[in-house]
Amino acid sequence: MGTQPDTRGRGTEELRGSLSEKLCGIPVIVDEAGIAPYCRDWHGDVQTGAVAVLRPGSTADVSRCVRACVDLGLAIVAQGGNTGLVLGGIPDDAQSQVVLSLERMNRVRRIDVDDFSAVVDAGCVLEAIKDAVSEHDFFFPLSLGAQGSCQIGGNVSTNAGGINVLHYGMARDLVLGLEVVLPDGSVLDLLHTLRKDNRGIDLKQLFIGAEGTLGIVTGVAIKLFPRPRQVETAMVALGSLHDVIALYRRARHDCCDLMTAFEFMQPLAFQLAIEAHPDLTMPLGDYPAYVLMEVSGSGLVDARGMLEQFLENAMADGLILDGTVAATRAQSMRLWRFREGMIEGQAQRGVHMRTDVSVPLSSLADFVRNAQHDLQQAFPDSEVVAYGHVGDGNVHLNLLPPARATLDERHEILQRGNDIVNKWIDVYGGSISAEHGIGRLKLADFEQRLPPVQRRLLEGLRGLLDPHQHMNPRCQLNQTPICEGVEVA
Ligand code: FAD
Ligand code: LAC
Ligand code: ZN
Repeated sequence: MGTQPDTRGRGTEELRGSLSEKLCGIPVIVDEAGIAPYCRDWHGDVQTGAVAVLRPGSTADVSRCVRACVDLGLAIVAQGGNTGLVLGGIPDDAQSQVVLSLERMNRVRRIDVDDFSAVVDAGCVLEAIKDAVSEHDFFFPLSLGAQGSCQIGGNVSTNAGGINVLHYGMARDLVLGLEVVLPDGSVLDLLHTLRKDNRGIDLKQLFIGAEGTLGIVTGVAIKLFPRPRQVETAMVALGSLHDVIALYRRARHDCCDLMTAFEFMQPLAFQLAIEAHPDLTMPLGDYPAYVLMEVSGSGLVDARGMLEQFLENAMADGLILDGTVAATRAQSMRLWRFREGMIEGQAQRGVHMRTDVSVPLSSLADFVRNAQHDLQQAFPDSEVVAYGHVGDGNVHLNLLPPARATLDERHEILQRGNDIVNKWIDVYGGSISAEHGIGRLKLADFEQRLPPVQRRLLEGLRGLLDPHQHMNPRCQLNQTPICEGVEVA
């Protein structure tokens, strides 16, 4: 059996002193006020603590940090932009864990125009990468509401999704190579930009979606794409989610594979966006379902003509009931503000239930109808909203308790609501986490559904790489690894 990290009875102040001494030259935050923001989740629902926050500036620094923590028996929680929604990036024990923030590692190492690739530090903010490559006429397609804060290392570690997955894939599909500091401090250099490399098992895949449990990602080689010269956005209204799925199928066939986003929103989503941004007004009349879709391309295609023709046909057939096509970039951004602003509107409603689920696309409309019906029956005073990446079979089906609900009542509603959603996910053979990961929030739901053979493999892998459980304990798996680890150095 691997042993737990053990600080050997050292108190917090002693640990802080030892860390500062061992990590001379690397910024270490040891005061409670400085530590607090790194231990609070994005919504502000959860506040924890840590022994310290380590802020390395290079891969060699990260390696030193890891070795120092191992020496002192401290566990390490890697943190990127701290926008994760499942509590994987903040510690769960203030006495034995440190936060290792990648925020100072924010250098674009190189952009290679012939390879259509870039190599970046893991702490680069996603939006900064998108801006930097766009100056070279490239496009990095990972796009999510948190892109102004989240980091590429966090995106890789959560295998982030977002709005362009249906065309470009998840973070995993955009990674060519990785550099990782392993739990013993050694550096695994897989940072190449080869498109084809079949030298056996692809080790980098282990760290994509690992949420900081197997090592710390310090560098990422990413795929770049030509910057689309034409980006056309439309918001359309439909009679039901079943019609939304029918429209999606049709768009896949009719839009020359140029469809890059297809986001579903229910009416309440607009209301939430308007609550957060009162300057917004409803772009269309009142309908049961809306889709925000985008087609984009470069070269000799007429994306706008194609989109308009597609929408006209679907309208003539009665599938689309109303719609608007953005005439300018500003209009397009305004339409997207509804999609992004609704998250802030939800946050303003206080503690609420958030899910991130996927089922086969063919079952998505039935899943949402059934789960939403049961939620509304069980909690008539709460509001249910579904929205998300319908083209990927992924929705966020959320439950907003009434304003007067106390914190205890909210937690009770969340627990029971989650059970209802999970029941329907299981009926349709879906996933309790489509894109946000497991972290600590989804741990129980994940473990309950984890088949024994899969569990054995996961525990074995963690036992092999991190026998003493220094990397993000109780994230993704609760248990002590079952096998004795093999030192990897
Ligand atoms: P963090 O929150 O800091 O960490 C997340 C996990 O990764 C933690 O377990 C942490 O330990 C680990 N980690 C972070 N950096 C490293 C590293 N360098 N090495 C090893 N482990 C590391 N997610 C989606 O998939 N799609 C969306 O559309 C989407 N939209 C969002 C919108 C909003 C408004 C918000 C707040 C969040 C959204 N998210 C979405 C969730 C979140 O942005 C993503 O999970 C993102 O990838 C997290 O990146 P981060 O840098 O903030 O990671
Ligand atoms: C979104 C996040 C919550 O899609 O995943 O807005
Ligand atoms: Zn999402």
